[in-house]
Amino acid sequence: MQTVYLDGQFIPRSEAAISPDDRGFLFSDGVYEVARAYGGRLFELDQHLARLGRSLKAMRIQGAPLADLGAAAHELLDRNGLSDRDALVYLQVTRGAAPRTHRFPDPGVEPTVYGYAWAFEGSRSTEDGARAITVPDQRWARCDIKTVGLIPNCMANQAAHEAAAVEAIFVRDGMALEGTHTNLFAVLRGVVRTPPLTNYILPGITREVVLELCADAGYEVDLAPIQAEELHRADEVFIVGTTAEVTPVVDLDGRAIGSGRPGEFSLDLLERLRRRATAG
Ligand code: PDD
Repeated sequence: MQTVYLDGQFIPRSEAAISPDDRGFLFSDGVYEVARAYGGRLFELDQHLARLGRSLKAMRIQGAPLADLGAAAHELLDRNGLSDRDALVYLQVTRGAAPRTHRFPDPGVEPTVYGYAWAFEGSRSTEDGARAITVPDQRWARCDIKTVGLIPNCMANQAAHEAAAVEAIFVRDGMALEGTHTNLFAVLRGVVRTPPLTNYILPGITREVVLELCADAGYEVDLAPIQAEELHRADEVFIVGTTAEVTPVVDLDGRAIGSGRPGEFSLDLLERLRRRATAG
């Protein structure tokens, strides 16, 4: 039986009930985080909680028990037999349940806070390399907020799936920005490049860690836009994220990237990431 966290209580999943008036359900009026545990140890949890705080602030959602959510994440692992496993923890906060009006409820209501955890070993494509496609970016202009409003991401990822790929890379004004649930890196003439933080990408926790790992490794890094066309001239392309870790992209839109096999930067950064996540 899975135990979930809902509004301060740990309860069986079968007993979790959310109002049909919840603004998360009606308007996607909520934010979320996904954090990863390696052998039961949550990776960069503080960074995830800090970003959750920034998302809540940007959405003007008040009253979430942010200070309790770190302990709740750990407790979700414990209560679900995951305290020494590889797992994911999902946390979501919505503005709460109130009669449907576009404007915020006045007076405000308690936010709905939900969390759950499940065993997760990673995916094959992280080891083998992934196929990806490019798609026009049809998202709103605040991609820096981690909202549950993910329809463009779902549509794009489904298009990838139907093309036998695992990720879709959003392209806006000719620039390749990020994936549906990953940030984007390329290695061009020996230099590691990733788009700078703007309102058009999520400030990924893994992206930040990978930049630190690049510094540790002595790699030259350029925080600069990547033209979609340049990806086909790249030595390597890789996507990074909580679920993807560092996943080499070996085929983009049906064309091989570099050698068509995972490249040395990707493999080295994946190893460094795992070493950091599992270091005592
Ligand atoms: N997605 N870009 C987008 C649009 C994302 O949704 C995510 C994470 C990332 C990578 O961020 P991080 O390294 O902090 O996980 C980049 C999560 C995992 C998800 O929606 O499942």
